[in-house]
Amino acid sequence: MLTRRELAVLAAAGALAGCAPAYAPATFPAPRSRQFPRDFIWGVATSAFQTEGALDADGRGQSIWDVFPRNKIVDHSDAAVAVDSYHRYREDVALLQGLAAKAYRFSLAWPRIIPTGAGAINQKGVDFYSRLVDAQLEKRITPYATLFHWDLPLALQRHGGWANRDTAQRFAEYAALVAARLGDRVKHFCILNEPAVHVFAGHVLGIHAPGLTDAALIGPVTHHLNLAQGLAIQALRAARSDFTIGTTLAITPSRPAQDGVAPLNDAAAKGFDAIWNGVYLDPLLKGVYPAQTRGFIEPSLHANDLNVIRQPVDFIGANYYAPAYLRFDLMSKAHIAPADPPPRTQRDAFNREIDPAGMWQILKRLRDEYGNPPVLITENGCSDPFSDDPAIQNDTFRIDYLRRHLEAVLSAMEAGSRVGGYFHWTLIDNWEWAEGYRSKFGFVSQDRASSLRATKASYAWFKALAMTGRLNAAAG
Ligand code: FCB
Repeated sequence: MLTRRELAVLAAAGALAGCAPAYAPATFPAPRSRQFPRDFIWGVATSAFQTEGALDADGRGQSIWDVFPRNKIVDHSDAAVAVDSYHRYREDVALLQGLAAKAYRFSLAWPRIIPTGAGAINQKGVDFYSRLVDAQLEKRITPYATLFHWDLPLALQRHGGWANRDTAQRFAEYAALVAARLGDRVKHFCILNEPAVHVFAGHVLGIHAPGLTDAALIGPVTHHLNLAQGLAIQALRAARSDFTIGTTLAITPSRPAQDGVAPLNDAAAKGFDAIWNGVYLDPLLKGVYPAQTRGFIEPSLHANDLNVIRQPVDFIGANYYAPAYLRFDLMSKAHIAPADPPPRTQRDAFNREIDPAGMWQILKRLRDEYGNPPVLITENGCSDPFSDDPAIQNDTFRIDYLRRHLEAVLSAMEAGSRVGGYFHWTLIDNWEWAEGYRSKFGFVSQDRASSLRATKASYAWFKALAMTGRLNAAAG
């Protein structure tokens, strides 16, 4: 986190810059065309722990999420069944086919493949992913496998988890194993999923597994995730030359709160941006850590680490849901506190702000500050309103949300962004981490009592889009 001195320097710089908010809320030009390119990849994203269930099946080891206390989950639920994708994966793939999806971003559960995170392989776990991949290929759906979507093997956490540098080596071994066992058919990889969320929700706020609340972990955990990613990319590239490799980041526009002292809020927004976005993008794409983060990264940094982390990637996976608002807070340790978005901001039922301009803004940023790398939108979507009722089938709010965000994508592409695809979060309402089953992001509902699945209105809407690449205008 920022030291008091660094913050004072930033605040002074902000004041000198004339108090102009550096991250003014963005607007974007309406796209001129509504047609996506023919080869644009329309896909859907999921993760293993949120969907598979079958936590004890076929030799799977425990993950940090298996032991995360149920009383920290809003509805006190667990993911023992989730959407039962371990058993119903063929139905999942049929739903993807019915959606005209060209690609499926799913994650591999490390503890299913290597139950203790190191050493012995669980062949039955490999076999499951092999079947899942084959089922996709049979339907001409391209598998995009995420290697780490937050379900660290519990045995590794007992040795310090990501705070332990060795975990990065174990991750590289796991990546090499995946390349050897699945790389003949899986050609597309996302290395990590949203490391920033894993660092903060899991290690500082304690609201995600591993449930730790220690800000001193930010430096080592962040750096070892970056290092693990670099080593894993090297391992994949060493195994085969025909992989398309990227990583998925929660790239979040960081905006100063509008009330309070503008230069101080500005500094807080910049500080947040450095520890949330820059600390992953900069070492990967520029080979350096942002200046504000060096103080807490450097104790973990060894010679040559930055060379390992700076690996050529074939795409940046951008997950976008909402911008963040930050304010200066003298009372908090880092002097940065989350702030409310401006009044009258529209929110989804997950309480996240709906702001398609943020999508446009992150794509512009990748263009302007990071050399315009190829991008895949690897997640975007919204939740149904929270309620005990069965899922909402006529989800016109989701169609509206998607349309507006895709207009932002089209507009950014017209301005030069190299966006090659869009993966909706998610296929079926699943176990949404600390929100349990209450929060529902799917194109398809799954009744918890009967296990029956039913497509929502957005499913048919997305299918038409995936088939034609044409984004229709809002009705009426
Ligand atoms: C993202 C996560 C994904 C899901 C969606 C709603 O932050 O990557 O697993 O929780 O949010």
